[in-house]
Amino acid sequence: MPLSQQRIRDSPRDVKPGRFPFDAPRHVQLKYALQFAVLAPSTHNSQPWLFRVTDASVFLYADRSRGLPAIDPEDRCMLMSCCAALQNLTFALMALGFSYRVSRFPDLSDPDLLARIDVDARSGRDIDTSALEYLLARRTVAPHEAVLPPPVGTVASVQHEMERKGATMSLISPEDMRIVLQIVEENREDVRLLAKEEAMWRHPNRVRSRDGIPGGMQLNASSFFAESEGAVFGVLVTHGDRMLSWFQGGIALESGLIAATRENLVVSLASRPLHLGHVRIKLGKALSLQGTPQIFLRMAESSGASGAPTPRRSIVDVMIHPGFTG
Ligand SMILES: Cc1cc2nc3c(=O)[nH]c(=O)nc-3n(C[C@H](O)[C@H](O)[C@H](O)COP(=O)(O)O)c2cc1C
Repeated sequence: MPLSQQRIRDSPRDVKPGRFPFDAPRHVQLKYALQFAVLAPSTHNSQPWLFRVTDASVFLYADRSRGLPAIDPEDRCMLMSCCAALQNLTFALMALGFSYRVSRFPDLSDPDLLARIDVDARSGRDIDTSALEYLLARRTVAPHEAVLPPPVGTVASVQHEMERKGATMSLISPEDMRIVLQIVEENREDVRLLAKEEAMWRHPNRVRSRDGIPGGMQLNASSFFAESEGAVFGVLVTHGDRMLSWFQGGIALESGLIAATRENLVVSLASRPLHLGHVRIKLGKALSLQGTPQIFLRMAESSGASGAPTPRRSIVDVMIHPGFTG
């Protein structure tokens, strides 16, 4: 089997930033870039994305069969997750020397087709391998024993990155935190239903699972807001609360998470109780936000103990037509 084909059957976690297939056809090069795209975060590691690749373009689809109807009734987090993968893809394309254009929702008759990325020829032979390394290093599910405050300026650079991508991150002061906790507490009524759905994405004994949260790793539902001396809390805020807002929110979120990795921050996420539209409106008003809150972020300086990463499905499993060459 040719090396290029063999590589795309491996776990995307094994991708080597220095092993770009320079002499392979374009669609093989794009599949190489896709391995970085699927390292993106996704709600419960559901990886709700599908791709179609030709020699000129990559098409990104939402895979609605991987939805979480209780936790994510509007597919809001699904869209943000897919667009986090889109952000990884364009970030990788840039690092690999490609220029590209993104068309959002290019076929209005197909709401699952989220984006078409048209890719032009590469310029030069240089690859920014250190940029690609950030995509491999980025984690949200990680050990958090030592909670050290983020060094001065690091959170601001995450905020700056999110703003550049069309969303903002508002920091939550201790006073605002009381409001957040009160709203979290008031919206606990459907907790049992959510816990059931969450359990479906926890895989305590399935060591070979390529999605979900493997044994030993925990989602941070209970500890996320636990009092902490060191962590800084924020909330990602988008203009509006529709598909386009979630699209932009996903891109800004991942862009900020890549910046956080560069700044040696460890970031955890919590999308509950913001899964309900009326709670997003209520919190937005209560905190006087200039838009809609989408997801909470908890940021601290990384202690360096990154732990095992969450798994990813292989590229072959997320392609609509694995053999299609355009
Ligand atoms: C839109 C979105 C919502 C998420 N919501 C939560 C959450 O509520 N609680 C949590 O612990 N992690 C949440 N996560 C983080 C995922 O669980 C995590 O990205 C996934 O397990 C993959 O792990 P990794 O980010 O370390 O690669 C969310 C991620 C995304 C993109």
